[in-house]
Amino acid sequence: MQSDASPAESAREELERAWRTSDTLFEFLDDDAWTARPIPHRHPFVFYLGHLPAFAWNQIGRGVLDLPPIDAAFEDLFERGIDPSSTDADDAARSNWPSVSSVSEYRDRVRDELRRVLPEVETCERELLCQNDRIVHLVLEHELMHHETLSYLIHELEHDKKRVPVELPPTRTSARVPDNGWVRIPAGLSILGADFEALDFGWDNEFQRVERAVASFSLQRLPVTVGAFLEFVEADGYVERALWSAEGWEHLQRADRRRPHGWFQRYGEWHVRSFLRDVPLEQVRGWPVLVSQCEAEAYARWVGARLPTEAELYRAAYGHPESGERAFPWGDDEPTAAHGNFGFRRLEPVPVGQTPASASVFGIEELVGNGWEWTSTPFEPLPGFEPWMSTYPGYSADFFGGAHNVVFGAGWATHPRLLRKSFRNWYQRWYPYAATTFRCARG
Ligand code: AVJ
Ligand code: FE
Repeated sequence: MQSDASPAESAREELERAWRTSDTLFEFLDDDAWTARPIPHRHPFVFYLGHLPAFAWNQIGRGVLDLPPIDAAFEDLFERGIDPSSTDADDAARSNWPSVSSVSEYRDRVRDELRRVLPEVETCERELLCQNDRIVHLVLEHELMHHETLSYLIHELEHDKKRVPVELPPTRTSARVPDNGWVRIPAGLSILGADFEALDFGWDNEFQRVERAVASFSLQRLPVTVGAFLEFVEADGYVERALWSAEGWEHLQRADRRRPHGWFQRYGEWHVRSFLRDVPLEQVRGWPVLVSQCEAEAYARWVGARLPTEAELYRAAYGHPESGERAFPWGDDEPTAAHGNFGFRRLEPVPVGQTPASASVFGIEELVGNGWEWTSTPFEPLPGFEPWMSTYPGYSADFFGGAHNVVFGAGWATHPRLLRKSFRNWYQRWYPYAATTFRCARG
């Protein structure tokens, strides 16, 4: 599954490589899995098979090159996914999806057409989008983000509907819960976002650069583990109303859930769902726990702490005791396997506390990889935000307004390109399906 790219690789080559990864992900599906909807708030897999090429053609072919549709009906049907706020009922009407073979043929036609027309992007009229191949990078990064969406959808699919088309590295288990102490981060500045000219490509929500003063605070050295979170579950944290926000409590009652989404008991023993199989909890006590923001917040309250803000995690990751900023938490070296669990080397977590090379200046570890980390910061525009992508004005704007919170860092299925410091990601606070973990802050 690996997706390391050499720095010199062109956007076009990166796109070809991303297409191959998409194909590999779809190969995990059994023939009868295409119409499965393992997450009821999301479309079935066949939608994503069509969404990737339709999006690419809507952006590059129709969007900036003013070319005609390749299949107007598909380009409408597959234009965009659904935000998890829509319900099953909204989508009942859409139960008749085109056949997998017709969608695969469409995908192949789009790829061939794109290969033919990509050189035209260099001379196209839409200035910002065509300069620096921005539109190609936009389509590329969209495909890369969907690799992550696809991997958490496949994770949710019944295991007996999956095949294993590639060799995956063996699961790294750990029954040990490492010591997770508090580290004091001195007051200082965080730099969020970037200047438009500073990046070859960035999404609209990455602009503009802004400095935020952050007061001194304490942060856990590592993400909260399965083993640590089990104590909260066993102490009836899920039934103690006072630990939960009104929103979190409501979702919990509606789902009738008293445990993390991926946990279940079999013959009295806890198990944790992973990508291809379920593993006894005892064996993965050292993994980061995967939960929603509401659950993370309740746990933090239970230990007398809180979730960090987005600016605090930027400070802990990229800041320096005096001044200056680094490109990555570990410094300016390009990301490698030693720096964390990202880049699709595996499709599940690894035990925390075994990645010392990931440490930031302050000694905070694993800020990037092994799961996105929840923040207490609602997803909102940075000052000076402009929806500058004329072909895709709603990329971020459709999600501002309070229902989503920022998640920081990266997961195992995050491509190294998206480790760009200004890259921002978000989910609805109750959403328990993505690779999202957390650590606690105090003070
Ligand atoms: C930025 C990961 C929250 O998956 O909803 C894909 C990315 N937007 N297609 C999502 C996205 C449109 C988005 N996230
Ligand atoms: Fe999409």
